[in-house]
Amino acid sequence: MLMTSAAAEKAKAADNRYKYLDRALARHQFRGDALIEVLHTAQELFGFISREQLLYIARSLKLPPSKVYGVATFYHFFSLEPKGEHTVTLCMGTACYVRGAAELQNTLEHLCGCKMGQTTADGKISLQTARCVGSCGIAPVTVYDNDVIGFDTIEQATERIASWRKEEQ
Ligand code: FES
Repeated sequence: MLMTSAAAEKAKAADNRYKYLDRALARHQFRGDALIEVLHTAQELFGFISREQLLYIARSLKLPPSKVYGVATFYHFFSLEPKGEHTVTLCMGTACYVRGAAELQNTLEHLCGCKMGQTTADGKISLQTARCVGSCGIAPVTVYDNDVIGFDTIEQATERIASWRKEEQ
């Protein structure tokens, strides 16, 4: 649910990350063609881009919110939800797809109880896809946090998720 505008203004005033976002907007002279750069800055500052921030950016750049939303959802590197403690990025490019990425996707979604683009209910693991991570020769490729795993298998994926789950205990 969106905050009322007075509550949103108060929350922004208390959050100095908006000052840095305002500086980025000013640096780009509030030009609409700087949208992608501004979205990058917002994501770096906040970790993800909330609906309030999308609307704030749309107003600041004088763009329709639908355009800002469309760009933010088109590029996989923007996230509209908070990320989990761990992130799995599954490559769904052609080479990875033909070598088993769809099976890996089913396994990961089943193990985590959420779909690609979502985060587990406990906030532990986020699942996301990429179009091609540039390592087609070792397809299928999965990135577990910053660890790029080539020739990934269902067994390896299962082990990795299980090891992250164990950290809770
Ligand atoms: S298609 Fe997956 S690395 Fe290129």
